[in-house]
Amino acid sequence: MKSRKPNNLHIRLYGDKTLREVAKPVTEFTDDVNNFIADLVFTMYEKDGVGLAAPQVGRSLRIFVVDPFWFNDDGKKNPLVLVNPEFKEFHGDVESEEGCLSVPNIFEPVQRAESVIIEALNEKGKKVRYEADGLFARALQHEFDHLDGILFIDKIPKLKRMFLKKKLHDLQRTTDQSGRNIGELPL
Ligand code: NI
Repeated sequence: MKSRKPNNLHIRLYGDKTLREVAKPVTEFTDDVNNFIADLVFTMYEKDGVGLAAPQVGRSLRIFVVDPFWFNDDGKKNPLVLVNPEFKEFHGDVESEEGCLSVPNIFEPVQRAESVIIEALNEKGKKVRYEADGLFARALQHEFDHLDGILFIDKIPKLKRMFLKKKLHDLQRTTDQSGRNIGELPL
């Protein structure tokens, strides 16, 4: 197989419409899909993310990648690819701070299930199943939400969201059609 250098993809920011779409299931592992998965993994590490979902780079497909152990495992990379994921079980309830590459500079506590069981296809189209807790469970839930057009800021209490309103509005206002931040508008 011909080797191909993966691309560092551009991250769509809050205000971009792909982030708000319900992504479509993958029906076939074409070369395009396989290359895209490689790019998504590459980009996650380039951007120092714990996870990255396809809609965050402008592809409305039900694919995300996570590596919740990268930071505490001597920088050893062990990316997990989840295609067409489905949660099977949720247990418990826990609150912890989250952020998102698509919503820069905002970190807020979000309520999530403490542990989950998820099934998906991996990059080879093989069925995989993970039982996760801690940061792994949180990352799975956060990335899965991206596939349904949901952002973590949708899940914080209304009052808190009101305080963030100006910050979010400014971010949205300075995000252009292709999800790029064009900086402060000269207004
Ligand atoms: Ni995110």
